[in-house]
Amino acid sequence: MTSPTEKSSILVVDDVPNTVEVLQRNLTAQGYTVFTALGVPEAIRITESTPVDLVITDLKMPKVSGIDLVRHVRENLKDTEVILITGYPSIEGAVQAVKMGAEEYLPKPFTDEELLAAVRRALDKVRMRRLNRGAAAKPAHKPYGLVGDSAPMREIFKAISKAASASATVLITGESGTGKELVARAIHYSSRRASAAFVPVNCGGIPEGLLESELFGYVKGAFTGADESRAGFFQTADGGTIFLDEISETSLNMQVKLLRVLQDREVYMVGANRGRAVDVRVLASTNKSLPDLVAKGLFREDLYFRLNVISIELPALRDRGDDLLLLTHHFTRKYAQESGRPVPRFSDEALAVLKSNYRWPGNVRELENVIQRLIVMAEGDCIEVPDLPEPLRFSAGRQPDLTRPLAEVEAEYIRNVLASVGGNKTRAAEILQIDRKTLREKLKKR
Ligand SMILES: Nc1ncnc2c1ncn2[C@@H]1O[C@H](COP(=O)(O)OP(=O)(O)OP(=O)(O)O)[C@@H](O)[C@H]1O
Ligand SMILES: [Mg+2]
Repeated sequence: MTSPTEKSSILVVDDVPNTVEVLQRNLTAQGYTVFTALGVPEAIRITESTPVDLVITDLKMPKVSGIDLVRHVRENLKDTEVILITGYPSIEGAVQAVKMGAEEYLPKPFTDEELLAAVRRALDKVRMRRLNRGAAAKPAHKPYGLVGDSAPMREIFKAISKAASASATVLITGESGTGKELVARAIHYSSRRASAAFVPVNCGGIPEGLLESELFGYVKGAFTGADESRAGFFQTADGGTIFLDEISETSLNMQVKLLRVLQDREVYMVGANRGRAVDVRVLASTNKSLPDLVAKGLFREDLYFRLNVISIELPALRDRGDDLLLLTHHFTRKYAQESGRPVPRFSDEALAVLKSNYRWPGNVRELENVIQRLIVMAEGDCIEVPDLPEPLRFSAGRQPDLTRPLAEVEAEYIRNVLASVGGNKTRAAEILQIDRKTLREKLKKR
């Protein structure tokens, strides 16, 4: 996930001043704003006057226990997460804490990395929930009709505006479904050609034999059936913009003809022996690598250079961070309105699955289709994890960190199993298929 842009604030609560200081120092060094309290009453007072994103509290404190703070936060502060610090003997306490709504618990002793990882996870969750609410409430940020606010998309908006004020040929690349056609339209409609035609041509969808006459038109008698002259796409686009979509699908023969148009600014209608001047701006797109095709001899290098005067490369959806949430809300609203249904919301968990490490090979188009289907199928007012399509749910789960020692992974697994059975060691030992004594030893070890 992208790092938070504004400083997150954290309240650290422990009765041991030394612990509080160490945590404060570590977290401040990471750029967080850190408040501290030496007990629950003081912590509650702070949260009443200062909004905090995350509370990190020790469980065992004299007088009021950390559990009470967890309960207080859960009942009063919707936007605050809690990490509870526990010692091993109080695994039951940890289980209780998680049930009370502590986001995470950190068993002592923990490393700086473990602390920071838990902090990041908890803050991500706060941020997602806020974004979710914000995105649901206000209309999406949509320059040129393109939803997006991530750093790579901001670069795209800048590139569109530059391309719009130029007249050179633009090559738009990017994986399937990343919005290449939308970008082409954005360039045309914000250029000085906006009042003339935008003519998209799907080069891959028109049979080779027809493409030439479709693009350039033909004169009467050019071939059997040509009873009268007909203009082609280039003439239709005169004064405006032609968008050659899937340019990589054209034959080498066709590429020669396109190159000629680009060089001479005139088109030869099929059957004509004189060229006609046209004033057309050319935008082209491809989801293949033209340099690769050039290397294989399947695409003319000179045409590639002619097309690639300005190049715009669209980022994959998986590289656009929180844009996925913005797009999710945008499509949810759009399809709910279209089908006259109330706009459903997504559960935290369902959003987390959407944002997990699924690769979205079909990018924005795939997300749009997923949402459209969800809206059609949705029964309640909340979309939950089981409603999501299988490939997404399968690739959920965190990316495994493959640099962790076995002992650490084992300890975490044991804690999770214990938590899942409410701290019942006999049950946990059964699931783990080890005897209780081994379990006790393993718990003691770390
Ligand atoms: N940033 C965006 N905001 C809103 N809708 C988007 C965005 N990007 C793409 N879309 C939508 O996703 C779909 C695919 O976009 P588009 O056809 O422009 O992609 P493409 O890159 O041309 O795909 P392909 O390579 O398959 O031709 C369209 O329905 C489009 O409206
Ligand atoms: Mg397209």
